[in-house]
Amino acid sequence: MEDLLRRVLEGIRPRKEDRERLRGVAEELMVRAEKVASGLDAPVRPMLVGSAARDTWLREERDIDIFLLFPEDTSRKELEEVGLAIARKVTEGKGREQFAEHPYLTAEVGGFDVDVVPCYDVEDPRRIRSAVDRSPYHQEYVVRELSPASIDQVLLLKKFLKGIGAYGSELKVHGFSGYLCELLIIRFGSFREVIREASRWTSEVVIDPSGEYDSEKDARRLFPDEPLIFVDPVDPGRNVAAAVSKRNLATFVRACQDFERQPSEKFFFPRTPSISPQEMRGIIEARGSKLLGVTFDVPKDLVPDTIYPQLRKTERTLVERIEGAGFKVLRSDVLSKAGRSLILLELSVYELPKVRRHVGPPLGVDSERFIEKHLSSGRSLAGPFIDRSGRLVFEVEREHTRAIGVLQDALEDRGGFGRHVAESVEEGYEIVEDEGLVDLAEDEELFQFLGDYLTRCLPWHL
Ligand code: CTP
Ligand code: MG
Repeated sequence: MEDLLRRVLEGIRPRKEDRERLRGVAEELMVRAEKVASGLDAPVRPMLVGSAARDTWLREERDIDIFLLFPEDTSRKELEEVGLAIARKVTEGKGREQFAEHPYLTAEVGGFDVDVVPCYDVEDPRRIRSAVDRSPYHQEYVVRELSPASIDQVLLLKKFLKGIGAYGSELKVHGFSGYLCELLIIRFGSFREVIREASRWTSEVVIDPSGEYDSEKDARRLFPDEPLIFVDPVDPGRNVAAAVSKRNLATFVRACQDFERQPSEKFFFPRTPSISPQEMRGIIEARGSKLLGVTFDVPKDLVPDTIYPQLRKTERTLVERIEGAGFKVLRSDVLSKAGRSLILLELSVYELPKVRRHVGPPLGVDSERFIEKHLSSGRSLAGPFIDRSGRLVFEVEREHTRAIGVLQDALEDRGGFGRHVAESVEEGYEIVEDEGLVDLAEDEELFQFLGDYLTRCLPWHL
């Protein structure tokens, strides 16, 4: 085991030249930020935060987070305008503004993905003014509590989570954030202890290291629908693991159990299966299900954190509509890439006969209107009659005998769609069926997505 972890570390720990490169870029950006900030009336304080500032970044990572701390009495408008203006200067005009919930700027500088994020320098992290104001406190906390000797342990945990596909709190992933990894190591001491501990977790976990709540129940009441709760040491009102989905929690727990049983590099460096278009056609045929892909263009400037929740909401709506009409969805998924989105639906029941059962009111409720309505509808095939269980029944014509009809209706009225998705679909969409999806595969990302979908498997079992 120790050998295995040592080998993994050799592959993921930044080398001297990696550190120097990152330090060079980060320092240059910080010097520039301080210079720009000192020329202003308002006392804005730049701060390097995140994994780059804590030495908890993986060699493969290229992420630098710079926060600009504004006095608490700055107006929201000024924070955004001045913040972005400084950010633009710091990145020498290379940045792209991101309008998520909180505006910030991303840029590529010297091969690194740089985020410049304005925030408030709040006195108390329990009373934040904007969503990102806790980050400087996280920075202080981790630097204080994480011993330099434990940094390797964080790297192992991050890479393990990446390997199993559960790393990243972005809304595309719904996984474990870097800060959560750091806290888990601080709490349990080492990678192996975290694994050992988590292999006993169930679908509801509460971790409250500083005992902010009297009982797990109290904590759970505050974060009702969040399967993993890790109370933020800098703000007990926040769950650091709020983003973690049921799927990613269960994936992690299963991975920990399997790793305990049989440690392997596979968890850290999973094989990425690749199939040919020919094999893809074969798999689609072998499944014998019906695949429907809806593709449409989306505005290029929508960030994944905006578009993914909307796509998932739309996916849920479509599944409900289709199942509500009597068909069955086996599985579904969504993908968004620069400028284009795909909602993939796989049906195990795609076609149904024209006739459909329609049950009337129970005894004790008057049936006159029900019977009249159906007799005069022109869609009744049989009835009214009473079935074996005593219910009043008509057998009527189904509106759509194929699920694609329901899908088309839903795409035309777009009720229950995410806002940008509805707008994009209104501009036009295409429905691609079965093997037709393979032709979308000219696009590498789409092809990879379809391949992953069709060969879905926990990566360490591949
Ligand atoms: N942060 C947070 N919760 C999140 C995402 C970010 O509290 N869901 C805060 C943390 O303080 C974090 C900082 O924002 O340290 C920077 O975020 P990010 O770059 O996403 O995380 P890192 O810790 O830098 O990890 P990575 O190595 O993945 O960049
Ligand atoms: Mg980062």
